[in-house]
Amino acid sequence: MTSVTTEAYEAAFDAAVAADERIEPRDWMPEAYRATLIRQMAQHAHSEIIGMQPEANWITRAPSLRRKAILMAKVQDEAGHGLYLYSAAETLGVSRDELLDKLHTGRQKYSSIFNYPTLTWADVGAIGWLVDGAAITNQVPLCRCSYGPYARAMVRVCKEESFHQRQGYELLLALSKGTPAQHAMAQDAVDRWWWPSLMMFGPPDDASAHSAQSMAWKIKRHSNDELRQRFVDICVPQAESLGLSLPDPDLRWNEERGHHDFGTIDWSELTEVIKGNGPCNEQRLGQRRRAHEEGAWVREAAAAHAAKRRTAQHTEPREATA
Ligand SMILES: [Fe+2]
Ligand SMILES: [Fe+2]
Repeated sequence: MTSVTTEAYEAAFDAAVAADERIEPRDWMPEAYRATLIRQMAQHAHSEIIGMQPEANWITRAPSLRRKAILMAKVQDEAGHGLYLYSAAETLGVSRDELLDKLHTGRQKYSSIFNYPTLTWADVGAIGWLVDGAAITNQVPLCRCSYGPYARAMVRVCKEESFHQRQGYELLLALSKGTPAQHAMAQDAVDRWWWPSLMMFGPPDDASAHSAQSMAWKIKRHSNDELRQRFVDICVPQAESLGLSLPDPDLRWNEERGHHDFGTIDWSELTEVIKGNGPCNEQRLGQRRRAHEEGAWVREAAAAHAAKRRTAQHTEPREATA
């Protein structure tokens, strides 16, 4: 390709992004745009499937059939989100095997929030309300992301996430209005999950390595701090309705800003969890690798079945004319 042609392609790409048009798999795109999307979508897909683990921990101990059915549906949704996202990432020219291999060897990350343990039943509620709630705040703007397959996958994911958020809220409400022990259990779960949920929005804007470029490409539509603030403002009245408090003495309404002020986040904790020193990093990745190895026979059988069907399709017409 001559440089003149490359420039023309680049100009067409920039114009499409500026006009809020979608970039599709067959369109020309800068290599750095492709690499950024692969990194982000892979990390997102990995988070969906690793995120099944902390909650799956409670499926066998759900306190009623109704709660068990809800939790199973939710965990199953997360597997589905992983599948849409791996498929969407494959449109960028990577294979699912490659991405899973990078996850298993620690070369790609998943969200640090899933490296925290689920100690009580109330954690299922706190995860739904806060973790899925933070995920929605992050993901709703991704429905307008410049890359078509990612944006379209997010539309369905967000609809399902809002069900996840509601079931968590409703679970916490039941506990909060229950016995004093149940109320205490709900409060304890919120106390433990609040700060890690705020960290889900990523580092502060001035320390965020990829933010500016991603905003220019319209992969990202709002900054980390903007989304974090939005989430805090949504959660404060919800916590009041739940009858639960948020563990931040500095949390208060700021009339002038029209937002809630909140305390300083302990970023050193996030750095440690990202480095692999969170409470459950080893357990989560170990479980994922084991599940992958134990599922090898399923993948082999599916591949053999697909190959057999392909051969059958090729031979049938010949037999018919013979
Ligand atoms: Fe999800
Ligand atoms: Fe979810």
